[in-house]
Amino acid sequence: MTKILLADKLHSSCITALQEIDSLEVINKPDLNETTLIEALGDIDILVVRSTKVTAVALEAAKSLSLIIRAGAGTNTIDVKVASKRGIYVTNCPGKNATAVAELALGLILAIDRRIADNVIEMRQGKWNKKKFSKANGLKGATLGVIGLGSIGQEVINRSQAFGMKTIGWSRSLTPEKAAELNIEYASTPLEVATKADIVSVHLALSSETRNLINKEFLAAMKKGAIFINTSRGEVVDEEALIAELSSGRLFAGLDVFAQEPSAGEAEISFEIAKSLNLYGTHHIGASTDQAERETGDEVVRIVNNFLNGAEIPNCVNLRRASTAKHGIVVRHEDRVGVLAAVFAVLKEHGCNVQEMQNQIFEGALAACAKIMLDAPAPEEVIKHIQTCEGVLHVATVG
Ligand code: MLT
Repeated sequence: MTKILLADKLHSSCITALQEIDSLEVINKPDLNETTLIEALGDIDILVVRSTKVTAVALEAAKSLSLIIRAGAGTNTIDVKVASKRGIYVTNCPGKNATAVAELALGLILAIDRRIADNVIEMRQGKWNKKKFSKANGLKGATLGVIGLGSIGQEVINRSQAFGMKTIGWSRSLTPEKAAELNIEYASTPLEVATKADIVSVHLALSSETRNLINKEFLAAMKKGAIFINTSRGEVVDEEALIAELSSGRLFAGLDVFAQEPSAGEAEISFEIAKSLNLYGTHHIGASTDQAERETGDEVVRIVNNFLNGAEIPNCVNLRRASTAKHGIVVRHEDRVGVLAAVFAVLKEHGCNVQEMQNQIFEGALAACAKIMLDAPAPEEVIKHIQTCEGVLHVATVG
């Protein structure tokens, strides 16, 4: 029986669908944290997480773990490097919560422009202040700058255009042609977006290239009174520099993510930026709509089913993209026990390191063809030796 641990809260439709899989034992412990996860992983084969951190310590202790599914887009809360070292697949559910995150980004923009939260606070305090809250720029005709044009960035653009906004965008892979297709102005640098936009919205995955990409220079280049939105990851922004811009009153920000945000659902927070009066902060809720959680849950179930059926695992983030193995052998052989074992024994004897392999069976299951890629060309004597193995029909080299 394969054991799956759900270490965060998932949509009920996902839990039910997993429980209906006969060969799966579902352990639902949504309140685990990075420490309690270590023991809970025991003999677990599949782990599903949202915010719970998966550390190197947890991975080293999890002897049976073969697959981690991040029920969201980002995998920065998982030590992917250590997972790769231990041969554990790490997958995510990209695009499934893009609409939800885009909705929140637009919500923050509207809320800041009209100062909706401040309106509500004062009304709850028994104050009527039409005079103070009657000033807003409005969105029609304003320029929205989008940094990062994956599925979330594109959903934000679609919605902003419905509000009559102009859009300028930057991403690492954006070309002028692609910008024209998206009906946005092309920016060749993030700084160009900062200088031209009235509102900037960031939609970047966290990586070594994007950490602190929104730095002091970027924020200083933004127009006075501009709005800065981040619903991606706190670490893509230099928070100190943003705090300075908010305190001086030059910028407004809507943030759903923070560098020091807790991974637990409830916690006390003391980070400085949360107190800023020019900030509308939310509690990393971008992905948390019923629609998004249901679609993400469906994707979790699809990944689990593929894993259980031995099919290709979708959305794997830690497999080498393009093989660097340029050389290999193609062995046509009889489809019976021990033939491939003998081929591998020869490769071992000659110190040939296998990188990738594929074995396809022909109709009738009497013969098969194995393509075995190596990290160096197979010497002539290896080919000759394999040809002598019982059950081998033919050997050729590739590369
Ligand atoms: C994501 O990476 O898509 C979100 O952080 C998901 C979540 O809030 O759990």
